[in-house]
Amino acid sequence: MILVTGGAGFIGSNFVLDWLAQTGEPVVNLDKLTYAGNLGNLKSIRNDERHHFVKGDICDTAQVTALLTIHQPRAIVHFAAESHVDRSIHSPGSFITTNVNGTFSLLEAARAYWSGLGAASRDAFRFLHVSTDEVYGSLGADDAPFSENTPYAPNSPYSASKAGADHLVRAYHHTYGLPTLTTNCSNNYGPYHFPEKLIPLMITNAFAGKSLPIYGDGQQVRDWLYVGDHCTAIRRVLDDGRPGATYNIGGWNEKANLDVVHILCDMLDELASREDNKSYRTQIAYVTDRPGHDRRYAIDARKIERELGWKPAETFGSGIRKTVQWYLENQQWVRDIQSGDYLKWLDQNYSGRERVSA
Ligand code: NAD
Ligand code: DAU
Repeated sequence: MILVTGGAGFIGSNFVLDWLAQTGEPVVNLDKLTYAGNLGNLKSIRNDERHHFVKGDICDTAQVTALLTIHQPRAIVHFAAESHVDRSIHSPGSFITTNVNGTFSLLEAARAYWSGLGAASRDAFRFLHVSTDEVYGSLGADDAPFSENTPYAPNSPYSASKAGADHLVRAYHHTYGLPTLTTNCSNNYGPYHFPEKLIPLMITNAFAGKSLPIYGDGQQVRDWLYVGDHCTAIRRVLDDGRPGATYNIGGWNEKANLDVVHILCDMLDELASREDNKSYRTQIAYVTDRPGHDRRYAIDARKIERELGWKPAETFGSGIRKTVQWYLENQQWVRDIQSGDYLKWLDQNYSGRERVSA
């Protein structure tokens, strides 16, 4: 079996569902259930004996040690994190606690467990750390995409905390020989995406008749990857990645934020038109920019394709259609998470942002 951390969040829950469907191998899923963790994402496997959910904190080394001792996993796949850049700007503390200290605690527990395994199990064990392209900083319009050799230059408290975690993982391989794997992935989108991030926020605000807030000029570029493709890539890395190696994962799909929002509006116009037949584009509003906003991310994903034969299966067109359809069919899921905490966050992040003209 494997131990997954953060498996009730967006990517983690997609991974657990996909893992059980594709491999059938049991999973212990350790998640603190912060505002971003949602057992509703795992509803379809609530009676599945192969899925063992544990509410807990990766910072709690004793709890992690007990789980490792009891379940003897062959691998740890580490998703748990604070993941939202805007929240890291408002309150960076929890990002350092979970992303840096939490990863450190997990590595310590993993090292102790791994050191006590027999030779064959030690060789086979893997610690896969799921990280982000944001650790590489921001690109200019004509710069080459991030490769695995691009120097780290994180710009937000979130990306700095993920960079810290990446360095710890690297050091545990270099110093102790822990068989680690690190993946640095671009922006994901798809089902179960918490509506604080660009794509699900735009879809849910559009339905609710609210404004679609574009930070700054909307010309910041991200590389978008359908979450199912990220899950496949992680499975490939876990199966055949070289211990100590890092792999960049991306969709070869750079888009400016405003173009993404236009695509979403046009798709919603087609699939769920407004009662007044006006386009959802009329809801777009330009607001004050994110402080320190990274201008462009782009991923060179040739290494994972060359070494492990992985490349994305979805185009942006196919992935975004699936995503919009999922949100249309799962409006109760959205209503369920629009709790007091969520509304408080919207107020904190958006009420202070004055509207600016395009
Ligand atoms: P998310 O915020 O949706 O989910 C994070 C999960 O971690 C939640 O279920 C939360 O309850 C859990 N968690 C938080 N703190 C915890 C703790 N101390 N102990 C145990 N569980 C805890 O995040 P996501 O978007 O699914 O991202 C998952 C991972 O992938 C993160 O490490 C993130 O940095 C990385 N990543 C995300 C993206 C993206 O586009 N979302 C892209 C590249 C990499
Ligand atoms: O690149 C990978 C990263 O992608 C992950 O590591 C992070 O966990 C994930 O949150 C994401 O970070 P971003 O900051 O790129 O994602 P977000 O969805 O918050 O924003 C995407 C872009 O859209 C970014 O340029 C900011 C902009 N934006 C976002 C929001 C929420 C807006 O213009 N308006 C908004 O309301």
